[in-house]
Amino acid sequence: MTDKPKSGAEHFDFVGDTASGHSLRQSQQSDRMLRAILDQTFQFIGLMTTDGTLIDANETALKFSGVNKADVVNKPFWEGPWWTHSPQLQQTLREAIIQAAAGKFVRFEVTHPAADGSIHHVDFSLKPVMDDVGNVCLLIPEGRDITDHKRAEEALRAAHLQLAQSARLVSVGTLSAGIAHELNNPLTAILGLAQMMQKESDNTDKTKEEAAIIEKAAFRMKTVIDHLCAFCTESASEDWTQLNINQPIQDSLILLKTQLKDRGISVNLQLGEDLSPIPGSSRELETLFHNLITNSRDAFDSIKDDRKKEILIRSERVSGGVRITFKDNAAGMTEEVKEKIFNPFFTTKTVGKGTGLGMSVTLGILRRHEGKISIDTKLSEGTTFELFFPDLAFEQDTN
Ligand SMILES: Nc1ncnc2c1ncn2[C@@H]1O[C@H](COP(=O)(O)OP(=O)(O)OP(=O)(O)O)[C@@H](O)[C@H]1O
Ligand SMILES: [Mg+2]
Repeated sequence: MTDKPKSGAEHFDFVGDTASGHSLRQSQQSDRMLRAILDQTFQFIGLMTTDGTLIDANETALKFSGVNKADVVNKPFWEGPWWTHSPQLQQTLREAIIQAAAGKFVRFEVTHPAADGSIHHVDFSLKPVMDDVGNVCLLIPEGRDITDHKRAEEALRAAHLQLAQSARLVSVGTLSAGIAHELNNPLTAILGLAQMMQKESDNTDKTKEEAAIIEKAAFRMKTVIDHLCAFCTESASEDWTQLNINQPIQDSLILLKTQLKDRGISVNLQLGEDLSPIPGSSRELETLFHNLITNSRDAFDSIKDDRKKEILIRSERVSGGVRITFKDNAAGMTEEVKEKIFNPFFTTKTVGKGTGLGMSVTLGILRRHEGKISIDTKLSEGTTFELFFPDLAFEQDTN
């Protein structure tokens, strides 16, 4: 410890307090040992005055940020390289220092940028050190890098989520096969009769109007049943073939082009020309892209600013298959919504507008194509889906 501490620390040296009665050599040796322990530990450890002036930091903390001790000591701790990436974190730290200076042990999770620019997660704490009469004379900031732990936790959570989704899809599949079977016939009768009642010349206008309402409601039920049927089978569709994925993308756009144009949404289509063919069902893939496009279309509804509304659809050849990037600059989603979008019947749309089945159907289709999907979304800024389809050897499904 060479730097002279500021207020509150004049009588304290981090590892250099020479107790009277010890020889100078003994004391220096024990100082060196303590210093070595501090510097070798995996933890970030420092020392500061009660007003938050850093007076020492161990090698681990300095190396992590690629700074020299002289750059950081005798300065407010929150102005150190561990904190400056986030003014909000700096503020939290300042408040924590006040609490610790009042004698409280404070602990919270923070992020620190490493020398290579990567952001690490750190379990951070501030410990008050009391003097002989019980006054807080110093504070010890400590940090433990928990980035790996966090990553493992995140991977485990994602795996759990995936498992739960798969299980849910299977049970919805079994259930919906039964429902679809039982409801289809009576529904066809209701629809047919409602349509006939509207054409019947003997019926009054009021009856015809009511019949139209019945037809609309029955039609909606039919849509739900059709959607549910996408779960009914685990086996591939009849039109399973070796295909160029650009085709179903273009087909889905043919149907929706006018709708998008009417709402001022432009489509930036960047289709790769050298894509490897993938085994799949054109009909199912068209449904998948239809679902993604209609979701983006609806997500633009709440956008009231004058941004240029755009959906980007890019297909490109990558190792082992085809990657599709599907990106909109619409409303985006909260973390909470993002986690639920594959749940059957989950919707944020008003009653009657969405069934909440679109993304579950999409996931089912992806699974049949052995594909993968990842989502990146930011509230008010937009959503990016990245899909991957493997160019597996073509196999005729015989189920
Ligand atoms: N591109 C997107 N931007 C913002 N939110 C989205 C996007 N895609 C999906 N979502 C959210 O995910 C929810 C579920 O989507 P999903 O397609 O499964 O059902 P839905 O669109 O609500 O109903 P349906 O597809 O049956 O009409 C949506 O209600 C919406 O909140
Ligand atoms: Mg949808």
